[in-house]
Amino acid sequence: MKQIIIDGGKTLNGEILISGMKNAAVALIPASILCDEEVEITNVPNISDKKALINIIELLNGKVTEKDHTLYLNTSTIESKTIPENLASKLRASYYFMGALLGRKRKVEIYFPGGCNIGNRKIDFHLKGFQLLGATISMENDKYIIEANQLKGTSIHLDFPSVGATINLMLAAVKAEGTTLIQNAAKEPEISNVGELLNKMGAKISGLGTNTIKIEGVNYLHKASIKVLPDRIEAGTYLIVGALIGEHLKIKNIIKEHLEALLSKLQSAGVPMEIYDDYICISKAKNLSPINIKTLVYPGFVTDWGQPITVLLTQCNGKSILEETIYENRMAEVPFLNKMGAKIEVEGQTAWINGPTPLIGTDVEATDLRAGASLVIAGLIATGKTTIKHVEYILRGYERIVEKLTNVGASIQLIDIE
Ligand code: EPZ
Repeated sequence: MKQIIIDGGKTLNGEILISGMKNAAVALIPASILCDEEVEITNVPNISDKKALINIIELLNGKVTEKDHTLYLNTSTIESKTIPENLASKLRASYYFMGALLGRKRKVEIYFPGGCNIGNRKIDFHLKGFQLLGATISMENDKYIIEANQLKGTSIHLDFPSVGATINLMLAAVKAEGTTLIQNAAKEPEISNVGELLNKMGAKISGLGTNTIKIEGVNYLHKASIKVLPDRIEAGTYLIVGALIGEHLKIKNIIKEHLEALLSKLQSAGVPMEIYDDYICISKAKNLSPINIKTLVYPGFVTDWGQPITVLLTQCNGKSILEETIYENRMAEVPFLNKMGAKIEVEGQTAWINGPTPLIGTDVEATDLRAGASLVIAGLIATGKTTIKHVEYILRGYERIVEKLTNVGASIQLIDIE
């Protein structure tokens, strides 16, 4: 088991380079299965989720080579084999092999996907869309068997603009016969990143970034290359660190437009920032005003920032409110923040945070990826030593987090406890 130990209170100064986006990379890798030739993906973050997906592609007889942050994937010899539980359950994104294998081989057998314990995480929108495209779905124990003699384009209306369902149905539709419309589609930038790769392969997708995506089926997808977009969730996490304990902390390699909802909240709280197109300089606010936040789908204040920004709300002068509207159980870090000295009350999916409360280092546990990130932030500003257990969650989504923070002055280390 890995642990992170932080000696808090160090002012952070210097430059943090943002990596490629986890939630784009974990879709782009399975999407490569649709290609009849080779796919190159650059700016891939070196995180454990990437390795898990490569293991699945190699199990399916795909060929993957890696150089620095670039992946070369050749899936011309891909086979549709059962994706076993020990691989499928490692991450939520394993479900992208449903759309990709259905789209390429018309058959997929895969055990339930995994994912952080932040809510029900159903996949009913995905399965309903596959059926509308002509697939049949059966279950054997915890395994899905999805197959189709042929996939025919159709109109699919999503009950909710689900990121995963939008991407998965796009993957299944690119080689279907005829035209598919995905209505009430999600608009997150990672959807455009995946759609751009598919179009570079020769797919015919329009409406990316809007709530209606049109896919005209094609027969053959040729080689292509794509760059993973910068991770707006990682960038947001480090911006929150800078707002709490930075001094001209430079967060580099960002896309400003992807961060607008967070930047607006930080400005309302009184955080001094110099904002440019591809980097932001941020410093600790002398006086943080309380703010109210409601998480929404993009371009609203995205749910993945909710847990990290909760730590900032503990330092605001007054009562702040955070309302989580996307997941049912996304405040598991709160008991640990309260153990450190925060004053947070939770009722349902709403948290009332009274500040400012000095935080004191102690032993805490990561329960999911972004809860773990919030505990790192808390440890960085706390007085004394914080030990975070189960940090494997954090390493799934934050490339070189200990190195990046050490480079700007944090006293932080990653240790292996047998
Ligand atoms: C993606 O999850 C991200 N994960 C999540 O990031 C992110 O929080 C989420 O999108 C929203 O932006 C990956 O990309 C791997 P959804 P996804 O489908 O696709 C419900 C992180 O921390 N729903 O938009 O699973 C679902 O339960 C992770 O990086 C159904 O009910 O998100 C949730 O309550 C966490 N049925 C809501 O919709 C379905 O078929 C949003 O889910 C699908 C989803």
